[in-house]
Formats: sequence, C-alpha cells, structure tokens
Amino acid sequence: NKSIISLSDISKEQLENILLITDKIKKGTINPNIDSKIIASCFFEASTRTRLSFETAIQKLGGKIIGFDNDGNTSSANKGESFIDSMKIIASYSDAIIIRHPIEGTARLASEISGIPVINAGDGANQHPTQTLLDLYSIYETQLSLNNLKIAFVGDLKYGRTVHSLIIALSKFSNNHFYLLSPKELELPNYLIELIELTNNTFSLVDSFDDIIPSTDIIYMTRIQKERFEQSEYTHLKSTFILEKSSLDKAKENLKILHPLPRVDELDVNVDETPYAYYFQQAKNGLYARQALVYMILNKEL
Ligand code: CP
Repeated sequence: NKSIISLSDISKEQLENILLITDKIKKGTINPNIDSKIIASCFFEASTRTRLSFETAIQKLGGKIIGFDNDGNTSSANKGESFIDSMKIIASYSDAIIIRHPIEGTARLASEISGIPVINAGDGANQHPTQTLLDLYSIYETQLSLNNLKIAFVGDLKYGRTVHSLIIALSKFSNNHFYLLSPKELELPNYLIELIELTNNTFSLVDSFDDIIPSTDIIYMTRIQKERFEQSEYTHLKSTFILEKSSLDKAKENLKILHPLPRVDELDVNVDETPYAYYFQQAKNGLYARQALVYMILNKEL
C-alpha cells in the first residue's frame, strides 16, 4: 500500500513517472480508470482547490467518493470521536483515504493505522505533496526542465507547507538556485536549508523583488498563513512583500509566476493580465496531477 505523506516518500524517478502520466492525461492520450473504487475525502480543514480537484479527478477516473468537509464539523469528530477510531472505520469501507488536517503528522498517523493508501492533502504547516505534483508539472510545462532554474520563493516560508514540499522535490534535481524572500520571522526552516546544502542546488536570502526579478525563471508567491498565527502577529507581518505589475518591468521573457492560491493581498490582481501570470493554469493542472496520482496508487504503479 503506497501512501503519499511527504515528498521524502517519493523518489525522483517516481516523480518523473507521475509527471509523465499527468501529461498524458492532460493531452488526452490516455484515459485511465479505477473501476468504481471508493475513495474517502476527509477534510478537517478548509479547502477549495485540493478537495474539488480531487473529487473531480476521482469522478473522471470512474471512482466513487465518500467523506466530509466543512472542517470536519459534519463528522463524528465533532461529537468527540478520536481521530484513530474515525480512520479505522473509514478505512474499513474505502480503497484509499485523502486527508487534510490542521495538525502536522496526522496523515502519517492515518497511514499507519488504516492499512490502505493515504494521500496527504495538507497537514498543518508540514507538507502538501499533491500541490507539489502540480507545481512541478507547471514548472516543467513552462520551462521545459526541472534543472538549472532560478526559483524565487516569496512570503511565508516558515508555515507555507507548499513551499516545504516543493523545495524537497526540487532538491532531487540539479543546479537550481532558490531565492528566499520573506520577513525575518517567516524564514525557511533550518532542516530545509540543510537539505538544500546537501544537494546539487544552492540558495540565497534576498531582501526585495528588485534583487531577483531580472534573473528569475519562476516566482513562487505564497500567502501569509493567517490560521497559524495570533491575530496581532499576523497584522504585523501581512503585506510585507506584495508583487505588483510595475515590479515586473525587468522580468525575463520566460518568467512565470506561480501561487498555490488562495491569495490575499500579496499578489496584485493587475498581475493577472501579464504574460507572466500562470497561477490559474497551475491550479487547473491539479486535476490532471491528482488523476495521475490516484490512478497510479490504486493500480500499484507507485
Ligand atoms: N492550494 C491549495 O491547497 O488550495 P486549497 O486550500 O483551496 O485546497
């Protein structure tokens, strides 16, 4: 049973295979099917893109969905049922579980007790591996490589789980340079700095968009993760780095701006009309990447 909990669980070769299947699904050259398998979609934390793209992917694969959303408030967790009991019951009548939870490590716990594949759809500030699949696919689609790139990560690098997963994934490739632009309080955790240092990739801490725009291939914007802060601290940190259309005058022609979304105010809506904006195409790629992943897990191709 292959669970997808962390990017550390997936090899470079497996990533490349998932991206290949994603591409074939997007181009319509294959139309995989999971033969009415039942997938449980358990969202204990808010979501628009991840939940709905997974549920669409499963329907397109010919599978069936059970589960709950509304931050788990419609499940018996609301009556005090333990997470472990809930996972045992859900696993007893489903073929795989997709789980989002505000507490780090819950997807790993679910995989240890359920006996069926578990896909982490975001656990607290830790990881968001399926977001990384669509991020990697979008980078490859626009740059034709996952090596030799200059990629700027901007915003909440401390609590931004999509950043953590994407850096682990890109560190499996070579000669990438990561620009890190964040408030001091929200710098990338040390374990990820150490990981980059152990690989064939490099990083630098930068202070402004001006330092990076003329040489950057990808800008990966992120929202300050309001739900992980005290309100006063959030108010102090929000709006520190806002990307505006006027900042892009010196951009390279091939620059693409990604954002896992949702955005708040860190990415001005006027950027949407520039040729650099790619975040809506990126979000749509989530459908194909999740179709590929669910199919490959249930077909034991991972
Ligand atoms: N990118 C992402 O995880 O979006 P949702 O929170 O809407 O699922």
